[in-house]
Amino acid sequence: MTAIAVLGSTNMDLVAYVARAPERGETVTGREFRTIPGGKGANQAIAAARAGGEVLMIGAVGDDAYGTRLRAELEHAGVETDLLHTAEGPSGTAHIVVDDTGANAIVVIPGANGTVHTLGHGEMAAIAEADLLLLQLELPLPAVVEGARMAHAQGVRTILTPSPVQPLPDELFDNVDLLIPNEHEAAALSGKTEPHAAAEILLRHVPEVVVTLGSKGCLYAARDSETIHFPAPEVTAVDTTGAGDTFVGALAVALGEGRAVPEALAWASIAAALCVQKPGASTSMPYRSEIDAA
Ligand code: RIB
Repeated sequence: MTAIAVLGSTNMDLVAYVARAPERGETVTGREFRTIPGGKGANQAIAAARAGGEVLMIGAVGDDAYGTRLRAELEHAGVETDLLHTAEGPSGTAHIVVDDTGANAIVVIPGANGTVHTLGHGEMAAIAEADLLLLQLELPLPAVVEGARMAHAQGVRTILTPSPVQPLPDELFDNVDLLIPNEHEAAALSGKTEPHAAAEILLRHVPEVVVTLGSKGCLYAARDSETIHFPAPEVTAVDTTGAGDTFVGALAVALGEGRAVPEALAWASIAAALCVQKPGASTSMPYRSEIDAA
């Protein structure tokens, strides 16, 4: 089994489903409200566990009811939570509007995630024992950099989802093996809106890049090979929240199992396509048997 450590966020997603997202200054009436466990780190952890990985989560929840539910959700998925600390104060929350096309807009309030500034001996040891480390940018940057540096020094493969996007220090780029931005994040990091061109620029910083393109699939670029476009399965999306995290979690499992990149990307794309067909983040992530059967 692939051992995957996730250093990342847990959020309670407060989701409003609405026909059309409001413009600035506008009020609209929505259809439904749900609270759904999420956070990019927890989503990737749950997606990887359901895809067949042995997953350990490093981060923090608050000492509120959301924190209890977030921890329980991870444990229910089989994720190890001994290094998911409980911090005083509120858990992270994500305020999400999902429209009838399945597209979303998200505001994240870090809460307990904002307390994870540095890693202790336990976290360092857990990362050193993993096959892969999954990172995103919903924890304070110093902790993300420390985790990436530690993993890289130990030969643990690092995968970074640069979201929410922000300028990245060389110290982080230098310790990332595979960068997985969506097209907006790729453009913001590279200064190029065209995804091939963005990937080319990003390869100056990291050896491998996957630019996710939503329903258009993804681009795989590596320093030593041609950039390849992989299409996504054609499906009708009801909620794209967590689709990118599902893709990353499943891809990590497949790569950890030693599958070739094209096969791993195709498998991860199926997982993401299954995710968008159901509402919510953690609630819509497929199990390995479902990905294999699709
Ligand atoms: O990537 C989706 C996630 O982003 C949501 O679950 C939300 O918590 C935000 O972190």
